[in-house]
Amino acid sequence: MFKKITRRNFIWFSLGFVAAVGTTKVTLNYHSKQKILALDNPTKDFTVIGTSSLKERAAAKGLMYGTAIRNHHLWEDSKLAETLVKECQILVPEWALKWYIPNPALRPEPNIFDFSEVDKILAFAQNKGLQLRGHTLVWHESLPPWFQDTVNSNNAQQILEQHINTVVGRYAGKMHSWDVVNEAINEGYLLVREQKNNIPNNLKNNLRKTPWLELLGDNYIDKAFRLTHQADPTATLVYNDYGLDYDTDADEAKRNAVLNLLENLKSKGTPIHALGIQAHLDASETNFNPDKLRSFLRDVASLGLKIMITELDVTDEKLPSDIEMRDRIIAKTYEDYLSTVLSEPAVTTVITWGISDKYSWLSDFKPRPDKAAVRPLPFDANMNRKLGWNAIARAFDNARLRS
Ligand code: XIL
Repeated sequence: MFKKITRRNFIWFSLGFVAAVGTTKVTLNYHSKQKILALDNPTKDFTVIGTSSLKERAAAKGLMYGTAIRNHHLWEDSKLAETLVKECQILVPEWALKWYIPNPALRPEPNIFDFSEVDKILAFAQNKGLQLRGHTLVWHESLPPWFQDTVNSNNAQQILEQHINTVVGRYAGKMHSWDVVNEAINEGYLLVREQKNNIPNNLKNNLRKTPWLELLGDNYIDKAFRLTHQADPTATLVYNDYGLDYDTDADEAKRNAVLNLLENLKSKGTPIHALGIQAHLDASETNFNPDKLRSFLRDVASLGLKIMITELDVTDEKLPSDIEMRDRIIAKTYEDYLSTVLSEPAVTTVITWGISDKYSWLSDFKPRPDKAAVRPLPFDANMNRKLGWNAIARAFDNARLRS
């Protein structure tokens, strides 16, 4: 009944199938490459007027610019330290105030707090007239090895109180702000999947299933903010998250979920003062819609919250290898994004997650397939300004003056 599929036919069919798949992949690859090349404008002007630093340009508009820093880089690299003091008004320890990154770790043992590195970076900041902000008190990452075996639903509240009272209390009155809770909302793609599966879009379902949620319940975020405010009433308290930047289903879902969280916290009288937008950008991302992002920022500001851009960098992971092209596309990404967010008066601060390509976390987190050194930040590995620096400078120069 069925014509016997001869071996020859099967081989021809298989070859045809492989060829079709191959052609499709090549075509898709070609189109994605064309889309990325279209991002490049070799004639775009990145001219900057004058010789002012980023710190000075930001300050002229009532803004602050700064960077994350790993302590040991600061002690080891005098050129980095010099650049950072010249260009920055605020610092955030990339590692030192997390529960556990052995550098040495803040929390090596359940009843040991090692403040040696934090005290050093605070002294450096104060000595140079810089502000310091804390990152981060409650996060599901960088938890100590002893956490899982030590913390349980009976002692979690006490351990959280001990951490916040001890750490925030020690630096009360000396910290610009704290990322009290970091990344408490689910990944955007999970939120989209929940919606497709008709799972109710509410805070309970939107919260990331972190150890803190499991141990303390939905109200852990409010608790953490109240404890922090009690320990240091002078600090600006921030909820910090990522994946809020682009016109994609995932980022749209995340923006809505974060806004819902902020509305919930404000309705409870939680002492929250700002949203931290990490802004880990992708130079190859073409779905950027300034109007949608501005609308989100307006909604956040309408809650009476300030907005801080807390971890800005631009991965060039998917860009072609040509360095001049990469720098141009990265610079345009910086300028397009910052000119959009700085049009919202509630945006007060811009912090890059590192200042030099030499020390970017993206070298490990998003290495390039061609193994070339990544170029995500305003300064190159030799501490020379790049077009990204020009782009940030231009965005500050063109920003409206904050009242
Ligand atoms: C990263 C650091 O840059 C890395 O060096 C470390 O290994 C892991 O954490 N969002 C955050 C930051 O809030 O704390 C993360 O920092 C980057 C993503």
